[in-house]
Amino acid sequence: MVCLGNICRSPLAEGILRQKIEEKEIDNVFVDSCGTSDYHIGQTPDKRTQDNAIKHGTDLSNLRGRQFAQSDFDSFDKIFVMDSSNKEDVLALARNNEDKNKVELLLNITHPNNNLGVPDPYFGGANGFEDVYILVDAACEKLSDSLR
Ligand code: 4NP
Repeated sequence: MVCLGNICRSPLAEGILRQKIEEKEIDNVFVDSCGTSDYHIGQTPDKRTQDNAIKHGTDLSNLRGRQFAQSDFDSFDKIFVMDSSNKEDVLALARNNEDKNKVELLLNITHPNNNLGVPDPYFGGANGFEDVYILVDAACEKLSDSLR
């Protein structure tokens, strides 16, 4: 799961997907998240993201910011990006078509071919965090079912 800062959208997607995988007892899936930028390396998720997530029972406090690296193409089968800007940044590091084919917008899971982005809540109001939760939760629900 990849966004810009790895403190709002992608750690939420990581936390939600991990939780669903555990609840549905799906084995052999490794989930991680990171940011395309180096702005928040080592930091915990944004307090507003954490506060909203915990209302839904999703605890993100153990997660720490990390930057996307080219080696992630070797470590992961799928790379879900939150918006088209994240997608461009990740694709810029792709070495070949195999790398490129791993990259997909997260919301294309729930809105196939619409190429919608998860809106960045960082500079907005509190409602943005709940809007993001709803979008990401629906995508992770469908994604986790496909991993069964
Ligand atoms: P995220 O949100 O990409 O969903 O983690 C952001 C977090 C930090 C910044 C931008 C977006 N920033 O500019 O520091």
